[in-house]
Amino acid sequence: MSQILTIALTKGRILEETLPLLAAAGIVPAEDIDKSRKLVFETNRPDVQLLVLRGADVPTYVQFGAADMGVSGKDTLMENGAEGLYEPLDLNIARCKLMTAAIAGAPVRQGRIKVATKYVNIAKQYYATCGRQIDVIKLYGAMELAPIMNLADEIVDIVDTGNTLRANGLESREFIADISSRLIVNKASMKMKHVQIEAIIDAIAQAIGAEHSVTSA
Ligand code: PRP
Repeated sequence: MSQILTIALTKGRILEETLPLLAAAGIVPAEDIDKSRKLVFETNRPDVQLLVLRGADVPTYVQFGAADMGVSGKDTLMENGAEGLYEPLDLNIARCKLMTAAIAGAPVRQGRIKVATKYVNIAKQYYATCGRQIDVIKLYGAMELAPIMNLADEIVDIVDTGNTLRANGLESREFIADISSRLIVNKASMKMKHVQIEAIIDAIAQAIGAEHSVTSA
């Protein structure tokens, strides 16, 4: 008998793009996730269950082995670190860029600046690499408001269409990283449930036309 395999999914836009990939691997939730307040979902496969979590919590569940696999944004993996995880597949969904941004047309401020972001670790590392000194202000959303209200000089945030920046009179400045969602796997699970996990990775890789290799995140 096969063991239960638990897959942690990121709710929201990433979830919408993840479900067709899971379906391609023969995994379909037993009920409509959007219409339920449940957090654990059975699937058409008796050996697979799904968790639906906030994005920032997915790597934590997978790192500690509370979930065997997960789907997580590269931004979240960069911010949280990815110890104990493999990152075998770039799912090529929820693609965007991690950028710095500031008030449109504002001169680049010299010296120490204030940077508002939910990506505290990424921001510290990025500005340090550039040799710029910053004070980081941790926010949990609506980063675009911070320069407008003079809370910060710059922000670090993900940019997709650029509409949110434009609508708030900001402009993107420096590129930090390309972002997309990744399939992640707990290292111990990869050994213990190798057959189940490899089959899912292979099916998803085939669905997105990707080669895969097991690499550390
Ligand atoms: C993200 C990000 C920006 C926006 C960028 O927020 O924080 O606000 O999307 O997209 P755009 O360039 O297409 O306008 P999201 O809506 O994901 O909500 P969040 O603040 O909860 O992350």
